Amino acid sequence: MSSLSNAAVRDIETVIHPYTNLETFRETGPMILERGEGIYVYDSHGKKYIEGMAGLWCTSLGYNEKELIDAATEQLERLPFTHVFGGKSHERAAELAEKLKAIAPHPASKVLFCGSGSEANDQQVKLVWYYNNARGKPEKKKFISRIRAYHGVTVASASLTGLPANHRDFDLPIEGVLHTDCPHYYRYAEPGETEDEFTTRLAKNLEDLIIKEGPDTVAAFIAEPIMGAGGVIMPPDGYFEKIQAVLQKYDVYFIADEVICGFGRTGNMFGSETFNMKPDSISVAKALSSAYVPIGAVTVGEDMYQAMLDESRKIGTFGHGFTYTAHPLAAAVASKTLDIYQERNIVGHVRSLQPTFEGHVHRLAEHPLVGHVRAKGLIGALELVAHKDSKESFEPGAGIGAKVVAACEKRGLILRPLAGDIIAICPPLIITESQVDDIFKTLEEALDEVTAHARKEGLMK
Ligand SMILES: Cc1ncc(COP(=O)(O)O)c(C=O)c1O
Repeated sequence: MSSLSNAAVRDIETVIHPYTNLETFRETGPMILERGEGIYVYDSHGKKYIEGMAGLWCTSLGYNEKELIDAATEQLERLPFTHVFGGKSHERAAELAEKLKAIAPHPASKVLFCGSGSEANDQQVKLVWYYNNARGKPEKKKFISRIRAYHGVTVASASLTGLPANHRDFDLPIEGVLHTDCPHYYRYAEPGETEDEFTTRLAKNLEDLIIKEGPDTVAAFIAEPIMGAGGVIMPPDGYFEKIQAVLQKYDVYFIADEVICGFGRTGNMFGSETFNMKPDSISVAKALSSAYVPIGAVTVGEDMYQAMLDESRKIGTFGHGFTYTAHPLAAAVASKTLDIYQERNIVGHVRSLQPTFEGHVHRLAEHPLVGHVRAKGLIGALELVAHKDSKESFEPGAGIGAKVVAACEKRGLILRPLAGDIIAICPPLIITESQVDDIFKTLEEALDEVTAHARKEGLMK
């Protein structure tokens, strides 16, 4: 640890870092970021980076949006806190709920706020259980999620997540959470299977699972429009139509986890619109406030609300809520964020950059290190392989994805490696065309550097 700065040593000795190998971190230490401007962040040595991941898929309006800072300051000066328990409220709560309801991709009756994406999905689980008790269906409680899904890390949300690292040795998933197929055609199609056959098979497997478990026991299905942390996996054409037909047949409540795709990322306000999803409810967080303050939310349809009213009559209260539910600071910033999305036509901006962004991603499909590419709006990924034709992956220990990301970082670009040597790209939505070009120029140089390394080490087949 001797070459590390004092700040780095203090960090190592005091802070537990999520999604970090805590052992190797003791040697490498943190990258300490000090300030941000537009799509750029600066580390403690003054080095400038493009934040090519918008932080964690979230800082949609970049790093120094004055209107958000002003909205936060104004709210802090006026009323820094009130809770919304027991009928108390503040103006920003209803203002934000109205704006969310107006743009939601399904008929939303009310909004239940919380502090994060994990909490949003946790609330979804609780609401569905509550709803089915109110409907007199106490057996109908199971959730179906998908392998490689990411829905967060609280006990219920981590159970919905379908990634091994979130389950292993945490004694998860909890009982009653099942995982069905991941719609990654490139990886999971059978030899010779068309996309159409693939999605038909997945819908059939879902139906078989529901029948096997007993339709009276299956309450809900949850899906990200694009699976983010699981590898930026795009649903094949027609996938959600076939899945939804099964859900309807068995009265299974459908939740769209819009925590990444919400608010313009895919070229529509919600990923549900992009992929023809007809959810009963959505979970949002991240870009809801451009990540300036923690906030999440769940939309509640009229049926669900009526059931909640019945439960209140029976029990005497809705026994759920956080100290920070609809926190005034968070609500004020989120409300201003939604205004900015409308005023600056952020969706239109994403659409105008879509051909450039997607064009760059598709061009990199030709690169020797790249097996598969995917892009929609301003989110994309490269899946790196040791052998293009056979799709053979690198040994996980070779850390090829991490090496590409390190080579980008050296050149002033922050990206993120996902499991399976997948490089995710998800810049702030305020990015310009020439900045998109900059990202891909750097990324290509990094790919070249790591290809040379992989060839030298005999890792490419
Ligand atoms: C799709 C999705 N859902 C839920 C979450 C969890 O959100 P949070 O980290 O705010 O708890 C994430 C976080 O990346 C996400 O990508």
